[in-house]
Amino acid sequence: MCPLLMLWYPCWCILLGNFCVSTFSFGPGQHGGDGIWSGNELHNSGSISSNHSRSGISSYAKTLKISLPLNSSVSCEDLEGVGSFDTTCLVNSNLYLNSDLYIYGTGNLEILPHVSIACPIEGCMVTINMTGNVNIGQYATIVAGSVVFAVANLTMDSHSSINTTALGGSPPPQTSGTPVGDDGGGGGHGGRGASCLKRNKTSNWGGDVYAWSTLAEPWSYGSKGGGTSSWNKFGGNGGGRIKIQVKEIVCLNGSIAAEGGDGGLIGGGGSGGSIFVHAVKLKGYGTISAAGGRGWGGGGGGRISLDCYSIQEDVNVTVHGGLSIGCPGNAGAAGTFFNADLLSLRVSNDYVMTETETPLLDFPTTILWSNVFVENYAKVLVPLVWSRIQIFKP
Ligand SMILES: *[C@@H]1O[C@H](CO)[C@@H](O)[C@H](O)[C@H]1NC(C)=O
Ligand SMILES: *[C@@H]1O[C@H](CO)[C@@H](O)[C@H](O)[C@H]1NC(C)=O
Ligand SMILES: *[C@@H]1O[C@H](CO)[C@@H](O)[C@H](O)[C@H]1NC(C)=O
Ligand SMILES: *[C@@H]1O[C@H](CO)[C@@H](O)[C@H](O)[C@H]1NC(C)=O
Ligand SMILES: *[C@@H]1O[C@H](CO)[C@@H](O)[C@H](O)[C@H]1NC(C)=O
Ligand SMILES: *[C@@H]1O[C@H](CO)[C@@H](O)[C@H](O)[C@H]1NC(C)=O
Ligand SMILES: *[C@@H]1O[C@H](CO)[C@@H](O)[C@H](O)[C@H]1NC(C)=O
Ligand SMILES: *[C@@H]1O[C@H](CO)[C@@H](O)[C@H](O)[C@H]1NC(C)=O
Repeated sequence: MCPLLMLWYPCWCILLGNFCVSTFSFGPGQHGGDGIWSGNELHNSGSISSNHSRSGISSYAKTLKISLPLNSSVSCEDLEGVGSFDTTCLVNSNLYLNSDLYIYGTGNLEILPHVSIACPIEGCMVTINMTGNVNIGQYATIVAGSVVFAVANLTMDSHSSINTTALGGSPPPQTSGTPVGDDGGGGGHGGRGASCLKRNKTSNWGGDVYAWSTLAEPWSYGSKGGGTSSWNKFGGNGGGRIKIQVKEIVCLNGSIAAEGGDGGLIGGGGSGGSIFVHAVKLKGYGTISAAGGRGWGGGGGGRISLDCYSIQEDVNVTVHGGLSIGCPGNAGAAGTFFNADLLSLRVSNDYVMTETETPLLDFPTTILWSNVFVENYAKVLVPLVWSRIQIFKP
């Protein structure tokens, strides 16, 4: 029997997970991150620094004195690659950028194993727009604040990564993702950040949520965590943004990450950023994560949406809140994982204990969602305009 709640009152209702039986099975995730990105020095505006990788022909350092064309595509040669973007370009050098990168072509791109393309600057944008296929080899990484792919097929070999963790730019204006005050609260985005202040029941959360209206196609940065003093104004940085628009297949054995940054003992964790994947088929054993960062108060999870006709094998999708060092029982709240093909919403905290809620705002009235799963210690808050909610107790 399923108890049916009729909710019409102008107030909020807190639902505790687990409810709704999950039939979704998550397989073993793989964790990348052993790439060779080492955060080397940056160069003058608009220049690229290149270094041949371990797998490259030779190992020497070289700085290219070229200017990156603004808003127009670089060439394969500019990246010290072999071939061209209109046929196939092989990138075998590490690239350290300090401004946005735009790659456009009608061919294929292959990033060889262990190569890293990095623009480790908040909000720095890497766009790869190609008619053909992109292959990211084992242990290869792309690090930036925003990463956009518009390609036919994207293949990410094991231990490869697209990583915008802690590289978010400014969150949308008029949002309050970064908590005020100096109690080291976590940043909010898909879920609220945690606060370790226990004085007052109504204020035991840090940064607030935002960007609910773009749940199905998220494109907002996460927020910084709060600081613990006027010297330490901020905690961990917010997660970045990743948009993957693939015409055919995404084969993911590596990881796609937009996690919040770590605030340590002196600040809240940043909130997770945004990840959107559109493809006909998504398969593999990799990880897609917009988890909140760890900190004095943990950051809230970000927003992930997958718009894929079929999802095969065991891609591990995670939006859990970050751990709170100052109050381990109250991590950041879970973010949102929307399946835009099945129209289902999943809010899971991956068994990370929390007291902090994930507010779910307007329920869609034009198209009905098939399911809302609240599970694995997530806690949601719904306005009672969600007129009918069926709760299935496992
Ligand atoms: C998925 O990833 C999360 C975060 O890394 C981890 O906690 C969880 O155990 C993973 N799930 C599976 C089934 O591997
Ligand atoms: C992403 O980058 C962060 C910060 O450099 C690092 O801690 C994390 O391990 C990386 N994650 C992946 C999946 O590569
Ligand atoms: C290039 O790689 C070599 C060997 O891996 C390393 O010693 C050097 O610091 C790197 N230089 C740059 C600019 O990354
Ligand atoms: C490049 O594009 C960005 C955003 O699309 C725009 O703000 C900027 O003015 C452009 N710069 C040039 C030189 O066209
Ligand atoms: C990719 O290029 C096409 C033009 O060939 C353009 O219409 C499209 O907007 C571009 N996509 C991105 C994400 O830049
Ligand atoms: C994309 O991958 C599929 C399956 O491997 C292949 O059949 C198709 O030709 C690829 N598309 C392009 C544009 O190469
Ligand atoms: C992904 O991993 C599976 C299982 O190990 C393997 O069969 C498949 O070929 C791998 N695909 C890629 C692109 O690495
Ligand atoms: C709890 O905190 C909120 C926000 O800081 C404040 O507005 C409210 O007055 C406090 N309530 C109590 C009972 O202290």
